[in-house]
Amino acid sequence: MKPVKITDNIYWVGAVDWNIRNFHGYLTQKGTTYNAYLIIDEKITLVDTVKSSFFDEMLSRISAVVDPSKIDYIVSNHVEMDHSGGLPRLIEAAKNARIITSPNGERGLKAHYKADNWDFAVMKTGDRLDLGKRSLTFVHTPMVHWPDNMVSYLKEDKILFSNDAFGQHIASSECFDDEFPFDIMLEEAGKYYANIVLPYGSQVHKALEALTGLDIEIIAPSHGLIWRSYVPKIVKEYEKWAANETEDMAVIVYDTMWNSTERIAYAIQKAFDDKGISTKMMNLKTNHISDIMTHVLKARYICLGSPTLNNNMLPTVASFLTYLKGLAPKKRIGMAFGSFGWSGQSVGQIEEVLKEAGFELLNKVSIRYIPSEEQLQEVTESLKKQLVR
Ligand code: FEO
Repeated sequence: MKPVKITDNIYWVGAVDWNIRNFHGYLTQKGTTYNAYLIIDEKITLVDTVKSSFFDEMLSRISAVVDPSKIDYIVSNHVEMDHSGGLPRLIEAAKNARIITSPNGERGLKAHYKADNWDFAVMKTGDRLDLGKRSLTFVHTPMVHWPDNMVSYLKEDKILFSNDAFGQHIASSECFDDEFPFDIMLEEAGKYYANIVLPYGSQVHKALEALTGLDIEIIAPSHGLIWRSYVPKIVKEYEKWAANETEDMAVIVYDTMWNSTERIAYAIQKAFDDKGISTKMMNLKTNHISDIMTHVLKARYICLGSPTLNNNMLPTVASFLTYLKGLAPKKRIGMAFGSFGWSGQSVGQIEEVLKEAGFELLNKVSIRYIPSEEQLQEVTESLKKQLVR
């Protein structure tokens, strides 16, 4: 297992998880990496570790550069186990290492690993750690992704170790943004933001403000590839996403029993089409909720449809709504629709959740049994009238 040199005396020593396809409910069709970074200076420093099952892979990369027992500092930017899982065994190998973390990081690591005898040094925002020729400065970034998160900035090499921020779930033998298809990287960065970071837009905004003024040439996240050629581009995307900026686009999400709700979905699509608004049709039987969120990140309009089954919306729709509500996109316009046989509660239930989520609402559509061509045309025309352009 070879380390990858990032700049002089700084190495990527993480692990590549080619096989993971579900990351706590998020489909990771391209796998992922757990990135750890080794800085060789007077004080030898490791920034983050890897998921516990990948410890040997990380250790073999570290060992190709330096004897692990010589590590002085282990920076733990984030407690979640995909980054701290390797710590207990690493502490065994690097017995004299101090763990550098945030106050919540110390509490979280102690709670996770019953690590009362580990040697912690707790950093506040702005604290500096002297490594010799270099120094690391720390900035707390709470809720990007857990309360403990912080980022570490290596001023002399202009590298930001950003942990979860700016990550993408991509397994790759390449290490840098200019070695990989950029469109795929950007899409995966968006999917990552939509499924992990989206609820914390205001915290992302604060974190970006705190980083303003730092001269950053490289962003080294804890998942996926390292940004070195497209740093301004990904920062700009994060600013946009954090501000909940959307595009003229509609995501039409639905499930259907006998295709009536699906026919309404296509009538809705026609209205957007006629108005020149781009659409994504997302049948919940064939699309995973985490993939739908990638489109929700950009879409101004979110239309959600379900027939009524046993006085309720379909379970697939309820599941998506729960996920959507938790991820809390803002500044969106919602619309509920569906078909029913006799009781017809689903559309009202969907609309209630969209309202609670703070969405502006378009008129709901609820049609009994099979919609006629005239009814479908009416759905299209009525929606077009609401889409004033
Ligand atoms: Fe990649 Fe929040 O852990």
